[in-house]
Amino acid sequence: MRALADVLIIFKRGDFVNGWSFLFRWAHVVVGIAWIGLLYYFNFVQVPAFAELDAGARNQAIDKLASRALWWFRWAAAATLGFGILLLLVQEKGSGGGSLLFDNDYWKGASGRSIATGMLLGITMFANVWLVIWPNQKKVIANARNVLAGGEADPAAAAAGRKAAMASRQNTIFSFTMLLFMVGTSHFFGAISTNDSGSHRAIYWAVTIVIWAVLELNCLGIIGGTGTGGTNWFYEDHKRAIGLGLGLVVVWYLLWVILF
Ligand code: HEM
Repeated sequence: MRALADVLIIFKRGDFVNGWSFLFRWAHVVVGIAWIGLLYYFNFVQVPAFAELDAGARNQAIDKLASRALWWFRWAAAATLGFGILLLLVQEKGSGGGSLLFDNDYWKGASGRSIATGMLLGITMFANVWLVIWPNQKKVIANARNVLAGGEADPAAAAAGRKAAMASRQNTIFSFTMLLFMVGTSHFFGAISTNDSGSHRAIYWAVTIVIWAVLELNCLGIIGGTGTGGTNWFYEDHKRAIGLGLGLVVVWYLLWVILF
């Protein structure tokens, strides 16, 4: 039988799989599930369902249901980022080997490159939640409550809803590749990679940054505006967004195995 103090072994181990790393990893995944689960609920369930409600019922649902879901959604996003950063801070090179964060070789290698790609997408998704989706949804909720209270509808509410919806669809599209690299960092990409040459890394980052920038600028309306056609075709239906998101997983996977 272990001594009572050993029950708290999670806080005593100082090696690579130290207890803090494990605790933050677990918490990160729990709140990450809450965030992305709600993202999928919004995209796959709520948006199609709300489209079938009449205006009165929709305003009620925005007031009572969507506002609550958005509270959990944005704070789960903040907690996911927070635990993700904590997890990064406590990662060690080896037993007592110092922080991975300041280890240049780590970031040049497969694991560092994998988590850097996942974090690029995850932090972009977090920014979309707090800087685009939530500020615009606040206008939608305020409008619904005002109308329910007998006030005039805000003509700007529909445009605000559209901006939030585009960013939300883009987050769904990014989410699949983001999770590929989150999970792949410790469980896949390190084991399959045999080449870390500088020129291949440069190609990898150039292609990654272009894909990321084009998609993000598009969801902000900077490339294709806020209409429904052209490059926004993928945002019009959640099945199209899932298709593009899974397609990107294949693109990034092939990019990785061809280069590394
Ligand atoms: C928002 C920005 C995010 C940051 C900065 C971040 C950071 C990290 C870090 C540093 C790791 C450890 C990688 C390793 O060495 O194994 C990790 C793993 C992971 N993250 Fe994230 N993450 C973010 C978003 C997300 C989101 C939204 C999810 C959704 C569920 C998520 C799920 C995971 C999972 C499942 C793992 C792998 C756990 C494991 O293999 O044991 N992360 N993340």
